[in-house]
Order: sequence, then structure tokens, then C-alpha cells
Amino acid sequence: MKKIVLPRYEKNIIRAVRSLRVEACELPELNKNEVLIQVHAAPCNPSDIAFLTGEYNIVKPLPAVPGFEGSGVVIDAGEGAEDLIDSKVSFFIQEEDCGSWSEYVVSDRKKLVVLDNAMDMDQAACFAINPFTARGLLDIALLRENRAIIQNAAGGQVAAFIRQMASDMEIEVIDIVRKERTVERLQNEGARYVLLESDPQFEEKLEKLAKKLDARLAFDAVGGELAGKIFNAMPADAELVAYGGLSTKPISGIHSMDLIFKDKIISGFNLPEWREQMEDDYFEQISQEMQSLFISGEYQTKIQGSTSFEKISDGLIHCLRNLSKGKMLIKAFDKE
Ligand SMILES: NC(=O)c1ccc[n+]([C@@H]2O[C@H](COP(=O)([O-])OP(=O)(O)OC[C@H]3O[C@@H](n4cnc5c(N)ncnc54)[C@H](OP(=O)(O)O)[C@@H]3O)[C@@H](O)[C@H]2O)c1
Repeated sequence: MKKIVLPRYEKNIIRAVRSLRVEACELPELNKNEVLIQVHAAPCNPSDIAFLTGEYNIVKPLPAVPGFEGSGVVIDAGEGAEDLIDSKVSFFIQEEDCGSWSEYVVSDRKKLVVLDNAMDMDQAACFAINPFTARGLLDIALLRENRAIIQNAAGGQVAAFIRQMASDMEIEVIDIVRKERTVERLQNEGARYVLLESDPQFEEKLEKLAKKLDARLAFDAVGGELAGKIFNAMPADAELVAYGGLSTKPISGIHSMDLIFKDKIISGFNLPEWREQMEDDYFEQISQEMQSLFISGEYQTKIQGSTSFEKISDGLIHCLRNLSKGKMLIKAFDKE
């Protein structure tokens, strides 16, 4: 089988991407409850970009196979997983010796989302992480009974799912983006409150809106000064939930007095922990509900294109230039 291999972590993302190579290896052996998946496609997510530069929370021994999620078909199974053979699946894997940028992947059956046959396999490649992350974050809003939320990196895919699900839940969203063209796009798509982080009156406008809508919950995918500004702009009794660190900068500029006297808090969200805390039946119910919405076309991950193993460096560099254009899929069997 073929797999993509990262020979070394490189702080410079372009150099990291250029260093990727295709390697051949033997098919892995299967243990109890494990399945062998023939991978259809795997996306390049911000977590993969951070992984290639050695800045992600998961650091695998080198040479390493990148990729944390994908879609495919189960073609073989160890003892206790035979019932899954021929099933279409989405998977989310973080094991050291495995990555989704590969022709075949081994996964424990517990880490699979078994799919309805009608599910589109390109969409399925981006199904196991982002839609569930959006759902997990909105669970916090429901628990806190917040009727308005703030989010940054609002041109991205998690943010798009948050907007859509929030609208179904009648929760208002204040979107923050870094490019003017993304402001326009979101407004054209129907987003009501979109702020540009470089607007000289950004903080003033955000504070006013947060007060008006009573937005006491923020989902932060960026960190750095922006997260601090959002935290400071929210009214008392607010929570900022960090779930991504796209700026690679520590959250800064927080007003201590807000923490002490206004009961404001900062917390973190991590999808695998959210999943672990959940009963299997409830997760299955959410998965079925979301799959129906994908099958009907109501929910979709925006996909900007696909790249073959052989052309992976050029494909990824192209997508790095505009993440808001959608996901780049990596396909071993890409015909392009
Ligand atoms: N904690 C968890 O369990 C969990 C799960 C899933 C995802 N995540 C995180 O969620 C975040 C979003 O993921 P995604 O898949 O939605 O990403 P995505 O679709 O690739 O979009 C990323 C968005 O962030 C913007 N962006 C990138 N760097 C930025 C910066 N320094 N400042 C402001 N905006 C920036 C991009 O805008 P441009 O077009 O302007 O580049 C783009 O709109 C990532 O950090 C990811 O790691 C966390």
C-alpha cells in the first residue's frame, strides 16, 4: 500500500509541505475489534497544518503519516468487527503509527462513524470532526441557555456549521473574520452580524453588539490578542471557549478585573473528550440526525478540490492560500 510520509517537522509550512513524499509499505495486521479501511479521501484541516509544523498537541514519531480524519469502506476486520465489512465509514484517528493520508487505515471499531449508504463519500471525508465540533460547542450554549454567541475564524467550516445549527436553534451569531471579501461572502449567505477584526472600531462595535444581543458566550479558534478583545467585549457572566489556536499566539490582553469581579471565565473544548463523555446511543442519534441533513444536502462541507498523492505538495500549497475556500481532499486514487 501507499502512504504519505512526513520525514521531519518543519516550522515553515511551505517547507513542511514540500518535504512530503509517497512511500510503499505492507498492509498492517488487524487486532481484535479493528478494521481495515480502504480510504476514499482525507481532508487537510488546520490541525494537519499545525501537525506538519510540529505545533499540534499530537506529535508522532518520525517519519510520520499525517491526517486525522477521512472516509472509506471497511474491507477486512479482526475478531469482533466482522459485521462491519463492506460498511461505508467516516473515521477520526490520532494514533502515533497511523494517519488518514494513506491508501489504507486501521481503526478500532469504536472510533468509526458507520454511514448510511446514501452518504456522499467526499462529504463523509469531512464528517467525523467539524460537524460534531459545532454540535459540541452549541451544546455549551444550550446548557448555559445563551441566546447569542460570538465566533471568530467565521469564514471556516466549523463556523459555517455553527451558523447553520445556531439558526435552527434560534441562537443569534456575531461572526468575526479577517478579510473584507469574507465579510461580503457571509453577508451574501445571510449572516446578520459580521465584523472585520481589522476595523478600527472593531472593539467598540463588538461591545455594543454583545450588549444588545446579550452575547455571553464566545467560541475562539484564533487565540492571541483577538481572543482577549472578544473576552473583554462581552458582558458580565460570559464564557470564552477556546477550541483552536490558528494565530499560534497565546491568548492575551485579558482584563483581570473581568475575571475577578464580572464572573467571566475561559475554558477549552476538545472533540475526543466531548465524545468520550457521551453515551454511545446519544452519539449514534446525533450522527443519524446529521447524516440525514448531509444526505438531503442541507448541510455540506465546502470542498475546494482534491489532489492525488503524487501532486500533494502543489495541492496543499494552493489550499493554504485560501482556507475559507473550503477543504482540499487528498485521494490516493484521484483521477485528476
Ligand atoms: N477543539 C476541537 O476539538 C476542534 C475540532 C475541530 C476543529 N478545531 C479547530 O477549529 C478551527 C477551525 O477549523 P476549520 O476546519 O473550520 O478551519 P477551516 O475551514 O480551514 O477555516 C479556517 C478559517 O480560519 C481563518 N483563519 C486562519 N488563520 C487565522 C488567523 N490567524 N486569524 C483569523 N482567522 C484565521 C481562515 O480565514 P482565511 O480565509 O482568511 O485564511 C478560515 O476562514 C481550527 O483551529 C481547528 O484546529 C478544533
